[in-house]
Amino acid sequence: MTDTSIDRLGTEQLRARIAAELDRTRARTALLTEVVDDADLMRQHSPLMSPLVWDLAHVGNQEELWLVRDVGGRPPVRQDIDDLYDAFKQPRKDRPSLPLLPPAEARAYVSTVRNKVYDLLDGVRFTHGRLVAEGFAFGMIVQHEQQHDETMLATHQLRAGPAVLHAPPPPEPRAPVGGEVLIPAGPFTMGTDTDPWALDNERPAHPVELPAYVIDAAPVTNGQYQRFVAAGGYDDSRWWSSAGWAHRMAAGLSAPLHWRRDGDGWAYRRFGRWAPVRDDEPVVHVCWYEAQAYASWAGKRLPTEAEWEKAARWDPATGRSRRYPWGDDDPAAAHANLGQRHLWPAPVGAYPDGASPLGVHQLIGDVWEWTSTNFRGHPGFTAFPYREYSEVFFGDDYRVLRGGSFGTDRVACRGTFRNWDLPIRRQIFSGFRCARDARPEESRS
Ligand code: AVJ
Ligand code: FE
Repeated sequence: MTDTSIDRLGTEQLRARIAAELDRTRARTALLTEVVDDADLMRQHSPLMSPLVWDLAHVGNQEELWLVRDVGGRPPVRQDIDDLYDAFKQPRKDRPSLPLLPPAEARAYVSTVRNKVYDLLDGVRFTHGRLVAEGFAFGMIVQHEQQHDETMLATHQLRAGPAVLHAPPPPEPRAPVGGEVLIPAGPFTMGTDTDPWALDNERPAHPVELPAYVIDAAPVTNGQYQRFVAAGGYDDSRWWSSAGWAHRMAAGLSAPLHWRRDGDGWAYRRFGRWAPVRDDEPVVHVCWYEAQAYASWAGKRLPTEAEWEKAARWDPATGRSRRYPWGDDDPAAAHANLGQRHLWPAPVGAYPDGASPLGVHQLIGDVWEWTSTNFRGHPGFTAFPYREYSEVFFGDDYRVLRGGSFGTDRVACRGTFRNWDLPIRRQIFSGFRCARDARPEESRS
């Protein structure tokens, strides 16, 4: 992609860029909701997920609330449906029994809202207040829709029935990648003050001092994970935390979600098709407890969130933190497996152009990576523009995931982006890599 970063655009270029991102994102939303019929859109495919038609109108409703009403100061399009599409007022399990807009009405609603947004985008002055500075509110709404596109992709993955989504396979490895990378001791800047579309929980920038540590050059692969399974890792409480073991027993976990035995090996069901599990692909659909158990079995641990971010952003040549492992340029196709161009993780070694200067690969894209860290605000955090995006989730319940997956849009993913979920969740596109403390003789080198 040759897009220039948002912070380098003039006013008219910014307007055009916002329109292009709105369009491109809506095309994906449309595809995800057009490949199944109306009955399928209204159905709940898993108690963890909303009916797809709820996501669709919810995306339009958030766009109406923030852009049409707040930024634009225009009258409501459909005030009567605000409560129906408020995620806090409607628990997921109740969403299929709500009087939801049927698909044709939901489509008409989101397109009415979108036309009003194009109209107000023409006249908006990006200098009037923090909400619109550098197009932030538009960027927030674009990313909100992209996040729901990933959620809808996870719904598709849970949906029974024949395949309806198609995409070419990810690229083959171009370089042998494996082993570990030493990250030297010292401070780095975590978080950001300057990335225009960074969300509240990525702010502010602050120094973090870390001792030397070692992080895997690549996410844990299916081949590695299968050795844990074959070694009886799921049946040995030694590797599991007590909460993890209790969950493993209660939920009957014995392999990643969507896996089944296939002769001597395993098969993995992705979007309606069974495929043999490929050894060199990052493992996906594991929960935090499984990731933690694997890491203990391997004699390692999960990285902290700060360790993950230093590996992804710190440039040893300058000491600066950058937006991505490869630098500050927006992600291009050769950097990372992002944006639903492919429907599963790429084999390790497929993205040498996306590696960090110290040789850590595939930090961005492929699979969300569990970290050991509980989701909290960075020091100096203030909610903006609303507490319900992230602040209400702070505490000890949620763990941080980093780096985005094959299902994450490039605009919704960067070295500072923070995702979070409960440690039992694995319907998301979640994997992990391992880390460990550096030994004294390693840190002196
Ligand atoms: C950032 C993925 C945890 O889906 O719960 C969507 C994103 N917030 N609508 C979620 C979100 C409001 C959020 N995650
Ligand atoms: Fe939402």
